[in-house]
Order: sequence, then C-alpha cells, then structure tokens
Amino acid sequence: MMPWSAQREAQITDAELTELRACILQKTGIYISESKSFEWHTKLGPHLATLPADERKNFVSRVHSEPDYRQKIINLLTVGESYFYRNHPHFEALEHRILPALIEDNAPTKRLRIWSAGCAAGEEPYSLAMLLDRAFPELKTWHVTICATDINTAFLAKAEQGIYTPWSFRGVPEALRTRYFTPMDAQRYAIASHIRSQVQFEYFNLITHPMRPPRGAQYDLILCRNVLIYFPHDLAVRVTANLENALFPRGFLILGHSESFSAHTALETIYSHATFYYRKPPVSGATAPPTRHSHSLIPGILPVMPANDSAPPNKSKDTPLAPTHPPARENTLSLIQLAEEHAIMGELDAAERILDELALRASRPHHRIEFLRAVIADQRDDASASLQHLKQAIFLNKDFTIAHYYQGVIAERENDRTAAKRAYRNTIALTATMPPDAKVDSSSGITALRLHEIAAERLKELDF
Ligand SMILES: C[S@@+](CC[C@H](N)C(=O)[O-])C[C@H]1O[C@@H](n2cnc3c(N)ncnc32)[C@H](O)[C@@H]1O
Repeated sequence: MMPWSAQREAQITDAELTELRACILQKTGIYISESKSFEWHTKLGPHLATLPADERKNFVSRVHSEPDYRQKIINLLTVGESYFYRNHPHFEALEHRILPALIEDNAPTKRLRIWSAGCAAGEEPYSLAMLLDRAFPELKTWHVTICATDINTAFLAKAEQGIYTPWSFRGVPEALRTRYFTPMDAQRYAIASHIRSQVQFEYFNLITHPMRPPRGAQYDLILCRNVLIYFPHDLAVRVTANLENALFPRGFLILGHSESFSAHTALETIYSHATFYYRKPPVSGATAPPTRHSHSLIPGILPVMPANDSAPPNKSKDTPLAPTHPPARENTLSLIQLAEEHAIMGELDAAERILDELALRASRPHHRIEFLRAVIADQRDDASASLQHLKQAIFLNKDFTIAHYYQGVIAERENDRTAAKRAYRNTIALTATMPPDAKVDSSSGITALRLHEIAAERLKELDF
C-alpha cells in the first residue's frame, strides 16, 4: 500500500485543479464540470505519485509550458470510449442511404474522401473500412481515403497497431469479427491488414482556428461522434461550423447520439433508419446562418438553444433541479442529473452505478431513473430492454411525454409501425396540452411545440 505521505502527494489540490482545468480547456477544448472533477483525481493520482518532489511541485506549470509533458497529461485525461459499429442506426444509414448517394454523386471522379474526427483508438474508422469492404466491392477500383484523427497520441498509436480486446467488440456480430480479425490469444484480436491499410491516422486538434482540415482537403463524409460533448457550447458551435466548411457540397456529417444541430444550420437535417444526420446543400451559401449545436439524451431531438446561451454542456440552463425541493428529493434529483451527465458523455457504466445506488436507497421507483435506464440500454443497442424501461417509466408517470416519444423512436427502428404510431400519437396529445414554449421534462430543453412538430412529422411519414 502507498505510504500516507505519498498518497497526499498523489492528490491534486483544488488550486492545481482549477488551473489545470483552464489550461486543458484552452489547449483541447475539453471542459470538465466541477461535479465530475473527481475523475481527474483518479486519472492523475497514479502519475503524480511517481513524480519526484520537485517535479511534483511544478506539475501544473510544466503542463502549461512543456508541450511534450502536456501531451502526456492530455493522453491521461481524454476519454477514448469507443467500440466497433457504435450506434448501429448510423451504420444502417451509411450502408443504405449515405454511401449509395455519395457513390452515385462521385461516379464520374471515382473518388471518395472520408474523415473520422476524434477517432480514439480506431474502432470508428475501421468500422467504416469494414463496411466499405463488405457492402461496396465496386469501390475497390476507386480512390478512397479514410483519414482518422485524434488529439490523443497514445490512442493513435494503438489504432495504428490495430489490436483490440473483446471490449471493443460489444454488439459486433461474431461473423464480422471472424471475417476481419485474427485472434492472437484469448484477449487480443488483430485487424486484417487490408482493412488496416485503408485508414491513415494522424494527430489533429479540432479546436485550432481557423481550421485547415487534415491534408488541407475537403471531405464527402465526416464523422465527428461523441467528441463535441466534451466542449463548451460556444466552442462546439465553432467546431461544427468548421466541419461544415470542410465538407464538399452534398457531403454528409454525422454527429454522436447525444449531439445535434438546432434548426439554425445551413445543413439539411435528414432522418432515416431511425437516426439523424446532416447534408450540405449542393451549393454552399456564403452567408449561411451560424451553426448551432447542443446536447441531448434523446436521438433526433434538436433542442433550440437560447440566442445568447454559451454555457458549457454540463451547466445546462435546462437543469431540471428545482431549488424549492426538500433536501432528500433534491439529492435524488442531483444524482439523477449526474447520471444523465455521464450518459450524455457515453460513460454508461458510471451512469448505471449511480442509478443502482439510487435504486438501493429509494423507497419507490422513479420514472426518471427508469427513463435513464432506457436511454442507457438504447446506447448499448439493447432495444428490448430499453422498451421495457420506457414502459415502466410511463407506468410510473403516464404523462411522461419524452418517454412516449422515445418509445416511438425505438419502435420505429424495430420496424414496429403500430407501436411507433401509437407512441407518436400519445406524444402529440400530451404536447398539445402544454404551453407551446414549455420545456419538456428530461428532454435537454426541447419545447412542447417543437416536440409536437417532430412527432407529427414522424407520424405523417409512417402513415404515408
Ligand atoms: C469518446 S471518444 C469518441 C470516439 C469515436 N468517435 C466514437 O464515437 O466512438 C472522443 C475522442 O475525442 C478526442 N478529442 C477530444 N478533444 C479533441 C480535440 N480537441 N481534437 C481532436 N480530438 C479530440 C479524444 O481524444 C477521444 O479520442
């Protein structure tokens, strides 16, 4: 066990943490709320414990002034949660809508340029390469580039190696793993060399401004999933505008499950295969309105942000905490909110641990806990568990509007049109009874009117 004095040295002080948060935010865009700062303690502790006393004392100033050392700390602090074929609906849309459209458009030049921005250890770009190899053999005669970038050099090195543990294969059909990976031992699988050579990895910091895209290029397809959630709102807006500029006209942009544009973007929002993504219009408007961006737990929800809202994501003004609640209830709601923050960041295990703790403490079930369990199950691609939790949430609170809507999204994805239509009708009926600009509970701030419109659009499409 570490001696007590070493344990104390391993602890980052509050003053150091404040300075470090500012420096990391400035250099990487990554914002961490105070409520989650304890995670940095856990991540930095073992490193600080290894430092000699004089280096330990200068730890934060070295992060400021020494780029190599700073990179080491960035490598420790960035979250690289990823796995192959993460968010199946995106890959369905890629296979059946996005790539066929791009192949048709680019047939005269036979070129296709793809950028995976914030690729972590490579699961996302390799999933794309496997999809192209399996479903689009005609591309073998094309010039296809998959450029994959990240700010974490350790992730990039791992990606180049192409060796993965079973954790990266959550939800991947066995047949795909057998086809594209060779087992090295019980815990390690090496990706096929023809897939590995399809992807070029490089360091790229998304917050550099003005942004010159990697290789100075424009792209037909950009995936930037589960990266912007770490940035404050105004920075995420700027980065999304840069990504938009990096697209060719008619190019596609895919953001993460909990990231979405509001209505103020020049990009067209497309809904298919029960997911949302974006397409640049044929001729880019030089005077396009500024892109807006926000975070949501619910797929397809496009929250409308207040015009001057520049709060970091975790400091959302839409916090459902009411200051007048008695302390015990407030405590439960604060914990639910913390679990929501984790779920938004894709940190599903952490979110579930909080919910388990809450379930142990609570005298009775809570509709928002069930709802969050549904969101987590959906992010784990377990539709039937998700539907089960939504049913329970609605049983506990039959007017829980967002749960009805979410039921519709999942039922639609599962091709259960009858259930999807019923759920959208319920959403329409409930939102019709609310003031149009009222915020829908647990929805990251969408208004009743907007949710009403979205549900009506979905219903119209299903009735068609
Ligand atoms: C949670 S992972 C997402 C991986 C993958 N896109 C996915 O959805 O599975 C977020 C990645 O964003 C990277 N990242 C964070 N800030 C960045 C920045 N300023 N520029 C480039 N990448 C960044 C992190 O290093 C990390 O690998």
